[in-house]
Amino acid sequence: MDNAGSDGRRFDEPSHADGVGGEAVIEPLAAFRERAVTSDRGVYERFEADWPECWEAAADLLDWERPYETILNDDDPPFYEWFAGGELNAAANCVDRHLDDRRNQLAIRWFGKRGERRSYTYLDLYREVNALAAGLRELGVEEDDVVTLYMPMIPELPVAMLACARIGAPHNVVFAGLSAEALSTRLDAADSEYLITCDGYYRREDAFNQKSKADNARLRMDGDLDATVVVDRLGDALDVPLGEDEHEYESLVDAHDGETVEPVARDATDLLFVMYTSGTTGRPKGVEHATGGYLAHVSWTTRNVLDVRPNDTYWCAADIGWITGHSYGVYGPLSVGTTTVLYEGSPDYPDRDRVWDLIERNAVSVFYTSPTAIRSFMKWGAEYPERHDLSSIRLLGTVGESITPKAWRWYREHVGGGEAPVVDTWWQTETGAIALATLPGVTPMKPGKVGPPLPGIDARVVDEDGERADPGTPGYLTIASPWPGMLRGLREGDERYLREYWVDAEDGWRYRTGDGAAVDEDGYVTILGRVDDVINVRARRFNTAELEASIVGTDGVTEAAVVGDDGGRIVAYVTTRGDVDPGADLRTTIADRVAQSVGDLARPDRIVFTPELPKTRSGKIMRRLLGDIARGEEFGDVSALRNPEVVGEIESAVRKE
Ligand code: WTA
Repeated sequence: MDNAGSDGRRFDEPSHADGVGGEAVIEPLAAFRERAVTSDRGVYERFEADWPECWEAAADLLDWERPYETILNDDDPPFYEWFAGGELNAAANCVDRHLDDRRNQLAIRWFGKRGERRSYTYLDLYREVNALAAGLRELGVEEDDVVTLYMPMIPELPVAMLACARIGAPHNVVFAGLSAEALSTRLDAADSEYLITCDGYYRREDAFNQKSKADNARLRMDGDLDATVVVDRLGDALDVPLGEDEHEYESLVDAHDGETVEPVARDATDLLFVMYTSGTTGRPKGVEHATGGYLAHVSWTTRNVLDVRPNDTYWCAADIGWITGHSYGVYGPLSVGTTTVLYEGSPDYPDRDRVWDLIERNAVSVFYTSPTAIRSFMKWGAEYPERHDLSSIRLLGTVGESITPKAWRWYREHVGGGEAPVVDTWWQTETGAIALATLPGVTPMKPGKVGPPLPGIDARVVDEDGERADPGTPGYLTIASPWPGMLRGLREGDERYLREYWVDAEDGWRYRTGDGAAVDEDGYVTILGRVDDVINVRARRFNTAELEASIVGTDGVTEAAVVGDDGGRIVAYVTTRGDVDPGADLRTTIADRVAQSVGDLARPDRIVFTPELPKTRSGKIMRRLLGDIARGEEFGDVSALRNPEVVGEIESAVRKE
């Protein structure tokens, strides 16, 4: 069976071993355990013995309009259905049901880039979500119409997600930093005729025109937009005229203020949202999440893994434009009824203690971020967190990439007061919610390892043949049984869904995560990185083929290979035509082109010109070798290459940079 990526690429050897003398195992502290949402050690066994019924525990956290009939329908694998027959509304679960107990509690505390602040109680949120839902209906949005949202981290983004969910219109959030081209592709691919965006936002000191990107996207679309709603983020800073079919967010909401819209009862299997993510081809995949299973899994893990409760102030620093922000910035915390922090700014403005300042001032108890951010914090130095009283922190989380034991310890020591559990959570856009992590009140932690699969999740590390890999031996991370938060399919259809993810093994269907991993004697998993053409940098997922296609589109460039290095940077190896001068100008042209076609965030950090790319005899570019070189790592025998002599040249080109 083919567990490998499309070009059979393998993973690197485990590099996180904690050195001689055995690895550290850190037990949860009694003080934490006593107050934890879950401190019951029997949960693993119970979930295993009672699968899939165990997942009722997650579904029971939600309010259902109509109870579900089956927990898991597996009549037509791998097209699984969770909680079929049940009906619910995600917005009602995140807003309405909290009104009785905590209408005046803050739902969202927002901090803008220029020091602005805004707070929404659950009642405020209820009012605005209802008004916008009524406004969207007036504009013609009906159940099952896909609404695309293209906004930075402003409160109107979660409000719009919830307003869509309220009327049963799936949302399609496109990260605000993506280009006009990327937006138009996603609008077309999702058959979306409605767009909510904003006039602009601040990048550093300058007002940046988001609406003009949206206008360009509209011009590029195959389809067209029926209506566009524009949030006034900048006030007078930018004069953005509105055209026909374009509406001011504020006027729309004002016009419907005080109206209530009955939440539409959605089938558990109905689409809640689509989220485009990089796949193994240049074209992004539209990952579809169903309403019931997704919300149940997200809500369960927000409580049991992140230990979040209603009286917490919780901060997930991820952008809502990506899955982490969807699941743990919006749906998770609001389904629990907690106060969630939304931060538009950057972590080093006005100073490098901004994050710690916000944690102190808001008494944040649970903080969830990425290793990329933690690496920056480390680099800036412990003096910044030390300026602040961070004693409100009870738990720390990390997601998106592997965290080194060193960074893990730094995070716990300097942010967690040496006591807070650090949960290293593994999951993907496709899994919807956390799938591997320790349970902080139950499971010991091992820095650098994500931990065992969560109870009820049958994740395994397997070899080429699908057999469980021996402890310590690298293999492929797969999931052997369905789980509630799983994607229900791809926008591109069943065939692509099957091809991208599923293997029909002898003992049942297996979901391929695309990650290499190794498991230890205790069942703890170390993630070894992707085995396909996806790179994770800056806590984002990029498809190398998509970036390379855009580089090769630059005049004078003949070939390109893109890799990520260990500092979270994008490194592009580029070959040029003989008559072209590979210099600074070409570097700028290439970087600008990538920014334009994929987004600013994808701009290569280093461009290394090389006369040739290393290739196998069958002509495949050896990206793994290029990755090793970028990271300054040892690489093995290169004699199997068609052009082994080029490796030395590339190494010296890298060093010269
Ligand atoms: C990687 C983000 C190591 C992994 C939620 C996965 C991780 C991809 C971890 C999904 C972790 C995520 N340790 N690697 N704790 N968490 N990854 O879809 O390669 O943006 O397949 O979802 O990030 O990225 P995505």
